[in-house]
Amino acid sequence: MRTERIERVRKLVYSLLDEAGLDSPASSLMHIESVARISYLLAERRGIEKSELAYIAGLLHDVYAIVTGEREKHAEKGSLLATSILNTLALFTFSECQIITEAIRNHSSKKRSDDEYSEVLKDADALDHYLSSSIISAKDRERIEKAFFELTEKSPCL
Ligand SMILES: [Fe+2]
Repeated sequence: MRTERIERVRKLVYSLLDEAGLDSPASSLMHIESVARISYLLAERRGIEKSELAYIAGLLHDVYAIVTGEREKHAEKGSLLATSILNTLALFTFSECQIITEAIRNHSSKKRSDDEYSEVLKDADALDHYLSSSIISAKDRERIEKAFFELTEKSPCL
């Protein structure tokens, strides 16, 4: 999935990470790229109208945490940073910005259910944590099983 808007967001994200001068940006980059792709696949599977927005929410969802090193309230603060990034790019309608930033704001609240884009992002985030580390938190188990099955029609080895 490559669109002009995805590439413009990606370019800005990479420049922010670059400016932050991180010691080991590779694993952070792998996580956001992976969550973006899984989000896109889940959105397509679920028949969500604008799967491109799910991809972009994935790319942006942890930028605040990566750049600042802060995990505390990173979803809420990350949503504000994403708003500023999207406003800078001026490529999205107001409602598209709201969809993306709302998904980011909700993505740490994995025990509750929110709108379809938020649920895609939460599931993709949980699934990537499983795929990259196989450390499963109890709160993510159900999401991982469901998302894994949706994409593979198999159960994961949890
Ligand atoms: Fe994440």
